[in-house]
Amino acid sequence: MKKILMLNGPNLNRLGKREPGIYGARTLKDLEERMIQLGAESQVEVICFQSNHEGELIDKLHEAEDTEIDGIIFNPGAFTHYSYGIRDAIAGIDCPVIEVHISNVYQREEFRHKSVIAPVSAGQIAGLGFLGYELALEAFKRGAEGEE
Ligand code: DQA
Repeated sequence: MKKILMLNGPNLNRLGKREPGIYGARTLKDLEERMIQLGAESQVEVICFQSNHEGELIDKLHEAEDTEIDGIIFNPGAFTHYSYGIRDAIAGIDCPVIEVHISNVYQREEFRHKSVIAPVSAGQIAGLGFLGYELALEAFKRGAEGEE
């Protein structure tokens, strides 16, 4: 059975309340329930974790390798744009990461156009709302993260 970790970074615990015009009306709980259900339908265990703290996210990335997680679906929130600590953690683990953003970061402020995570990720999905997480799960199910 494949094990996939879904990691959400800072402020994503506020989904549903936070800027709903950008991030939608659904909550993190809605997202986590949907992903766990979607995984279960095809014998994939989806493990969910959210933190507002950089170090906790780094610890989870290390733990993912130690617990033989097959892939990580990761929305690092604002850390995407400047956290070299998270970038180095991803580079240092033998576990593929797909970077997901709910909003289309490239249509937004200039500082959101840069991801320090993208160069160490298998792929990136932005702008498709919660569907982006589902598509990342589908990519892991198909083993697409290792393809050229
Ligand atoms: C985000 C985009 C980031 O720029 C922002 O800081 C977030 C959410 C997204 O999902 O669209 O917190 O990662």
